[in-house]
Amino acid sequence: MNDAASEQVALDLHDLYENAPCGYHSVGRDGTILRMNQTELTWLGFSNGELVGARKFAEIVSTGRRDEYERGLASFRAGQDVAELELELVRRNGSVFDAFLRIAAVRDSQEAFLYTRATVLDITVRKRAETEARIHAEQLQAISQRVVEIQETERRNLSAELHDRLGQDLAAINLNLHIVKDQLSARAQTKVGPRLDDSIALVERTVEVVRDVAGALRPLVLDDYGLAVTLRSYGEQFAARTGIRILVEAKHPFPRLQQEAEMTLFRISQEALTNVLKHANAAEVRVTLAVESGSVVLTIADNGCGFDRGSRSGHRISGLGLLIMQERLRALNGSLRIESRPGAGASVVATVRSEQ
Ligand SMILES: Nc1ncnc2c1ncn2[C@@H]1O[C@H](COP(=O)(O)OP(=O)(O)OP(=O)(O)O)[C@@H](O)[C@H]1O
Ligand SMILES: [Mg+2]
Repeated sequence: MNDAASEQVALDLHDLYENAPCGYHSVGRDGTILRMNQTELTWLGFSNGELVGARKFAEIVSTGRRDEYERGLASFRAGQDVAELELELVRRNGSVFDAFLRIAAVRDSQEAFLYTRATVLDITVRKRAETEARIHAEQLQAISQRVVEIQETERRNLSAELHDRLGQDLAAINLNLHIVKDQLSARAQTKVGPRLDDSIALVERTVEVVRDVAGALRPLVLDDYGLAVTLRSYGEQFAARTGIRILVEAKHPFPRLQQEAEMTLFRISQEALTNVLKHANAAEVRVTLAVESGSVVLTIADNGCGFDRGSRSGHRISGLGLLIMQERLRALNGSLRIESRPGAGASVVATVRSEQ
């Protein structure tokens, strides 16, 4: 290579170092900045003379992250070769930007640490996106929590209204119909008797429907007899209503759990069974309640069409049921697992600690 060519290579390398789209710098054993490229100097707003040979790199790391940087530097002296750090760097004007540093140690022939070579990337945009994503996730969680609270309050209120007002009114209508029937003459009996019997039967059926609906909204049997009994009775109603076979398996008597845990697991069963009815096209569901190493495990497994959780929603939330199940369990430090493959049925597995 002639002199002109090697000069050009040197110029190109110099240009690449100084104006690369990332920052480059080196610091010595004590952390003093030995060199820094123009890109990084521009990002930081300093001139070469203000930093190189004059300041330690730690001085331009925000105070909150300085210890982390110092630990990284110490690890090179202790023999580590590469470190990756996310730091906040402070510009000359006091403003801060997020940076990703990949730092490698340069050693002498005796392996003693001499200085570092660091690349610096400005990750402000990524950090901002991460912060926004975290805020959205927190908001979503707060909303889900609120949905659970509202759902519970509304169900309680509706159940009380149905039970107290509609239930009492139906009982009064029933009584009136019986009184009217008893007062009828023989002639009127033949004419409208069948209609009255029909109406009495209708009122009695409606009383039962109201009781079932109120029970599903707020099952009093849950407080009195616990989860296993409630699931059996709810399962019977569900089977009668839908024609889907339900097997409830739980040892008898099943231990009582805290009220909130029982309600949570009951609500999860309700949503899982509603999902089976809405989506699964299943003939049979097994509801299993078991105690396994200090935890209560509720499994609702159907033999329906199943679904692929990954492709189910893409980036969209398709429904709230599974999300609410998760939220309810989160409040109890429990966990939710969904096992399903298209064509192979679906299982919802909810676990809470048994002392809950
Ligand atoms: N047992 C199941 N069998 C087949 N697909 C299911 C089953 N359970 C859930 N899915 C699928 O998962 C999706 C999400 O269920 P999720 O309960 O969250 O929402 P949803 O039932 O559609 O609406 P929502 O519960 O808000 O009324 C359903 O839309 C359905 O595609
Ligand atoms: Mg649902």
